[in-house]
Amino acid sequence: MRVGFYSELTRDWGETERRVLPEDRVQFHESVDSTNTSLLDEIREGNVEGVSLVVADHQTGGRGRRGDRWEAPPRVNLLFSIALPLEASPQSWSWLPHLSAKLIGESVESILTGGSRVEAKWPNDLYLGGRKFCGILVETISNPEPFAVVGVGLNVNMKRCQFPPEIEATATSLLEWEGCESNRWYLLGLIVRGFLTDYPKALTSTEGIVDWYEERDYLRGRRLRVTSVGRTFEGVGQGLGSQGELLLEDEDRGVRTILSAEKIMLC
Ligand code: BTN
Repeated sequence: MRVGFYSELTRDWGETERRVLPEDRVQFHESVDSTNTSLLDEIREGNVEGVSLVVADHQTGGRGRRGDRWEAPPRVNLLFSIALPLEASPQSWSWLPHLSAKLIGESVESILTGGSRVEAKWPNDLYLGGRKFCGILVETISNPEPFAVVGVGLNVNMKRCQFPPEIEATATSLLEWEGCESNRWYLLGLIVRGFLTDYPKALTSTEGIVDWYEERDYLRGRRLRVTSVGRTFEGVGQGLGSQGELLLEDEDRGVRTILSAEKIMLC
């Protein structure tokens, strides 16, 4: 563990949060393959008991959704994974990505100046000004105990010249939005504290998640082209379904429920 990291991270936490996530449940790596892979391995080996956190300054094999790579230069962004014991009823698990987006979005909004709001893009990306600054990869494992691993890549202090060419036109960072650097560990502390306070309670009634999402829904009311399980559909985004799915309204066929998508384009 990096010297001083735990005290820096937990500086503004309450005693309850410190008890839930004591020092032996936090790992910091200067460089690791992937924080998600590392945490999943720890769970598989039976080394994880409750909420746990793996943080890295750099990943050599960072993973995104749909098998994409997640690349970031060392020491500028937040790259971390939180292990959450899956205690709530399985019907509520589909809301975990949206709850994660909410908890991360709330923490980010609390440090943005001028009352800026993040945008939530289904299924669980966070945007500022129409560009992605945060991606979330939720993976689950059932043995030896059921856990969800929420992996977060959040562009904090990344400069324009550091974005890989393939995402240059569509990505942003808090540095770019705010015009100044933010303290990564302070922000991480806020996010972890949000999880410790709200998880799993917030999954038992999803109204709070839906309300938050509706006010920030990037796709709602927009004309979209969605590729899902190899088929392409067009329609207007109509918010979240009862299980957190994307609702897509087609003038001729009514409202279609999208459970997963390879690609979502604005038309
Ligand atoms: C996406 O938008 O495709 C999700 C990206 C998730 C990236 C984060 S970085 C920390 C954690 N470790 C990984 O390998 N992936 C997630």
